[in-house]
Amino acid sequence: MKEKDLKFSKDSLFLVTGGAGFIGSNLCEAILDMGYKVRCLDDLSTGKQENVDMFLSNPNYEFIKGDIKDYETCLKACESVDYVLHQAAWGSVPRSLEMPQFYCENNIGGTVNMLEAARHCHVKKFVYASSSSVYGDSKVFPQKEGYEGEALSIYAVTKKNNEQWAKQYAMHYGLDTYGLRYFNVFGKRQDPDSTYAAVIPKFIKQLINNERPTINGDGTQSRDFTYVQNVVEANLKACLASHEIAGNVFNIALGDETQLIDIYNSISKYLNKNIEPIFASPRRGDIKCSKADITKARKYLNYNPQYNFAKGLEETLKWYKNN
Ligand SMILES: NC(=O)c1ccc[n+]([C@@H]2O[C@H](COP(=O)([O-])OP(=O)(O)OC[C@H]3O[C@@H](n4cnc5c(N)ncnc54)[C@H](O)[C@@H]3O)[C@@H](O)[C@H]2O)c1
Repeated sequence: MKEKDLKFSKDSLFLVTGGAGFIGSNLCEAILDMGYKVRCLDDLSTGKQENVDMFLSNPNYEFIKGDIKDYETCLKACESVDYVLHQAAWGSVPRSLEMPQFYCENNIGGTVNMLEAARHCHVKKFVYASSSSVYGDSKVFPQKEGYEGEALSIYAVTKKNNEQWAKQYAMHYGLDTYGLRYFNVFGKRQDPDSTYAAVIPKFIKQLINNERPTINGDGTQSRDFTYVQNVVEANLKACLASHEIAGNVFNIALGDETQLIDIYNSISKYLNKNIEPIFASPRRGDIKCSKADITKARKYLNYNPQYNFAKGLEETLKWYKNN
């Protein structure tokens, strides 16, 4: 089933926190395309004004420039909202190790503010972004809900903590929370420029500019790279999930793994480039392999990813070439 076939009541209002970012802006776009109303809350700390400007002419879109660290802002943003899609957070494992206190205030404090505001405003569903990083050093492979290991970074701790808070809100306050553990998402509008940028947009931009990209490690590390449209599908389906499974977390991925070096070669081939990468030492806090078991999301959210890796990569490359 495609997103456009999912039905919400006519005047539904979605709040997307972090809506000026990569995943958030793709969510806003999909919801507007379906004809529903979207309110975006973002402080533009890592998000982009252009990801807001592109929607401003749509009467169904509203932007609040604000910070989830401020509870009053969260309350204002949640007013009359049916569904919260909470994406606002700072990503990046290495950056989290440089700024632990900020990650605590932003990713943990901000999420607790959002949960409390959503409870106060009686929203129908609270769907939030968690991360595959919560699996840490788990020896269970593919990674499966309920078999988490020790977190390997501050970023992972913030996401693990978010899940615990969301579960408490489901247990004690009847707030329907659903955690989506994203696995290495890629697609249009992902920022290639930050020092902490994800590999796919970074490789694409550097290869287009004839620069030599750096691969940390030997390139045999693998990830369950997931095209952003699959993540959009998961968020919308979680908004329709049953009350009985509130408080749960779900792997949102493709259920497949791809080695970094293979991605590098696929991008090079598509762009018709023959540039040798630089191999550097592995990054602190990174895991070697990641691949998700997506049975739980398939069963309870009716999640059925429409984009395999090759199709997602092709769409992504087309977008970067034209932008
Ligand atoms: N991209 C991935 O591969 C991936 C994987 C796992 C989890 N996630 C999670 O998904 C979510 C979205 O990630 P993304 O890749 O789109 O990142 P992004 O940086 O593009 O988007 C995050 C957005 O949140 C906003 N934001 C951050 N702190 C805020 C605050 N205090 N108040 C208001 N807005 C704030 C930023 O300005 C940005 O627009 C994050 O929670 C991230 O941890 C992403």
